[in-house]
Amino acid sequence: MEIVLIYGGKSAEHEISVLTAQAIAKNIDYMKYTVQPVYITQQGDWLAGPKLNKLPQMGWDFNLSPADHAEFKEANSTGLSVVPTDVLNASTIVFPALHGPNGEDGTIQGLFESLNVPYVGAGVLASATAMDKIISKYLFEKAGIPQLPYHALRAADWEKDPEAALDVVINDLDLPVFVKPANLGSSVGISRADSREDLKTAIDLALQFDRRVVLEKALDGAREIELAVMGNDDPQVSVPGELVKEQGFYDYDEKYINNTVEMAIPAPLSKELVSKLQDYAKAAYLIIDGSGLTRCDFFITADEAIYINEVNTMPGFTQFSMYPSLWEATGKSYSQLIADLLELALS
Ligand code: ADP
Ligand code: DAL
Ligand code: MG
Repeated sequence: MEIVLIYGGKSAEHEISVLTAQAIAKNIDYMKYTVQPVYITQQGDWLAGPKLNKLPQMGWDFNLSPADHAEFKEANSTGLSVVPTDVLNASTIVFPALHGPNGEDGTIQGLFESLNVPYVGAGVLASATAMDKIISKYLFEKAGIPQLPYHALRAADWEKDPEAALDVVINDLDLPVFVKPANLGSSVGISRADSREDLKTAIDLALQFDRRVVLEKALDGAREIELAVMGNDDPQVSVPGELVKEQGFYDYDEKYINNTVEMAIPAPLSKELVSKLQDYAKAAYLIIDGSGLTRCDFFITADEAIYINEVNTMPGFTQFSMYPSLWEATGKSYSQLIADLLELALS
């Protein structure tokens, strides 16, 4: 069977998606599957064809240089451009190794559904829900999963009366506050505000990325704990892992550039806490109607209060990423994980 491995994409998480796809390509069982890589440029063009084709099977150059990538990005003019229906059909199986808007948010999943193509990971509803930090909070509340106090703010209301909006947020949440675009990932557009002035700047920044933002009480010194969930009707939950940070805010640079964040797997936590986290991770999965996979992220305070932060339906997936490492520690190797996700896509 042919796997269509889609990577790149229009979102700010393009480069991470390339790394994710390379790791996946390296771990596919080529006795069972062939792979057709499809690269989506930052502009949204779909590229496929012999030049990309030969990469994974022949030992895709996993250390692809920026120059090689620039070549792919320009490949549109060299005849690699395709339309989705050229590469997708019901006898293929798609692995959308895409993060963020247009890849992890249900839009591309809708295309697969329309074309009757099976695909790895969450469906349209779960993808869209998990990507939206406001809607997911409404559902977590419904599921009884504890979360930090928050406010949702629309650009239209902000523009109408910014001072009134600031008053409401500061009175209700107190400072400091985290400000986030409703739909994004990898910490893009997110900032922490310690003063009224900061808050104004942070809201303006977040509104550059979305027309809705979420404002959230900021936690100081909280631990960040993540769990992997996988399955369709009977989801399984991994052991928890911890991001051990040198600084308080796990921003884009810390995530992908400085590499100063270490993972402690399993996270050193009491049995009771682990079991609560696993129950909440499963509840979050079920309430968004998850399928395939999801990483569920929590904060834990010194006095062991748990707050759900978010769920990611296509979490970072390099061999060093948290999601596969959590399964590795739970007894599932990276290649077994890929094999299981492909099976889940077909069931
Ligand atoms: P993304 O979807 O971009 O990963 P997150 O909501 O996970 O966005 O926020 C990114 C990072 O910002 C978190 O991993 C954490 O380090 C920090 N952060 C987010 N919200 C809070 C908060 N309310 N209090 C403290 N730190 C936060
Ligand atoms: N959005 C990134 C890829 C993650 O959550 O791992
Ligand atoms: Mg996050």
